[in-house]
Amino acid sequence: PTGVVTDPRNRALQDLRLSVTDRCNFRCVYCMPKEVFGKDFAFMERDELMTFEEMTRLARISVAHGVEKIRLTGGEPLLRRGLEELVGMLAALRTPDGREIDIALTTNGSALAAKAQALKDAGLKRVTVSLDSLDDATFRAMNDVNFPVDRVLNGIDVAHEVGLGPIKINMVMQRGKNDQDIVAMARHFKGTPYILRFIEFMDVGTSNGWEMGAVVPSAEVVSRVHAELPLEEVAPNYDGETSRRWRYQDGGGEIGVISSVTQSFCHSCSRARVSTDGKLFTCLFATDGHDLRALMRGGCTDEQLSTVMAHIWRERTDRYSELRSSQTSELRASGRKKIEMSYIGG
Ligand code: GTP
Ligand code: 5AD
Ligand code: SF4
Ligand code: SF4
Repeated sequence: PTGVVTDPRNRALQDLRLSVTDRCNFRCVYCMPKEVFGKDFAFMERDELMTFEEMTRLARISVAHGVEKIRLTGGEPLLRRGLEELVGMLAALRTPDGREIDIALTTNGSALAAKAQALKDAGLKRVTVSLDSLDDATFRAMNDVNFPVDRVLNGIDVAHEVGLGPIKINMVMQRGKNDQDIVAMARHFKGTPYILRFIEFMDVGTSNGWEMGAVVPSAEVVSRVHAELPLEEVAPNYDGETSRRWRYQDGGGEIGVISSVTQSFCHSCSRARVSTDGKLFTCLFATDGHDLRALMRGGCTDEQLSTVMAHIWRERTDRYSELRSSQTSELRASGRKKIEMSYIGG
């Protein structure tokens, strides 16, 4: 069974996000806080990780069902040894009508200068780099491993030079931690080839101490930037884009705002996620995934795998962000653990 699959809300499966490792060399306070992800934290063992062949197999089946975009995430994907090999395997896939797949990578940029060329050569199309501040002290405090901002900025430039663009820069904002840098970030990236996107701090997982008071709403971001660097809204690039686009009135490029808290985009959510150990999740905020690795290692055929994946998508009713206010407290009360972003993939 191949062909496009849609869920009961008429959302087609279009976007596959593969988490290639649950490890990261950063300890961003909103994602992998040190108190939880410390020395004793049990990351996955090698044999638990999906192999490149397993990931490619899932990708191939997803592409037959209409996926046109694959994003490699983590954790920090560049920590997965030989990642360019996986990129090469994915780059060989074609849509049913023969087109190439958009293969993107979300990275913290720390190893980008070293790896950009090999990734490009293997067939990676573009990268998105997380960068939460330009102020070195603030950046070091947010990644919490004292990593200098200069090295990330250099990684971004190298990625651009080798042609891994258009590059997007993702800034997660936390009030009181880096929101003072919003306008400075906008100013810095204005007029460059890089597209800066401001992301509302989300209540993913259970360890980041999320509270509404720490969220900087996109509307506030837009008005703060607009007050100094006038903006106007632009239409989305494609249906279901997470980001709302705003361009500088003077032609200095554009920024984006991703408002998963204040203006959810579940109505058009076309994303499936596969965790590092091969569980399929149909929502970032899910509590349970479907174990595709077990099926594959149990010897199922491509046809069976394809049927299972299509079935899961057809049954999908997720719209967590739309329901957030009630769900967050309910989930906390029930003691059910939401999945951490480093495991399911940003
Ligand atoms: P492009 O292909 O470049 O448009 O990528 P994208 O819009 O999917 O953005 P990206 O993968 O860079 O995601 C940016 C951030 O948006 C993520 O790190 C999350 O914080 C948030 N995000 C992405 N997808 C979802 C989603 O399905 N649900 C929610 N709630 N947030 C999401
Ligand atoms: N809220 C919003 N985005 C988050 N990310 C990780 N944790 C959160 C969170 N709590 C996203 C960031 C980062 C990517 C790896 O994951 O966008 O760039
Ligand atoms: Fe690592 Fe990215 Fe999470 Fe930061 S946000 S801890 S860089 S996975
Ligand atoms: Fe999609 Fe779930 Fe995010 Fe809504 S909350 S946009 S359904 S991943």
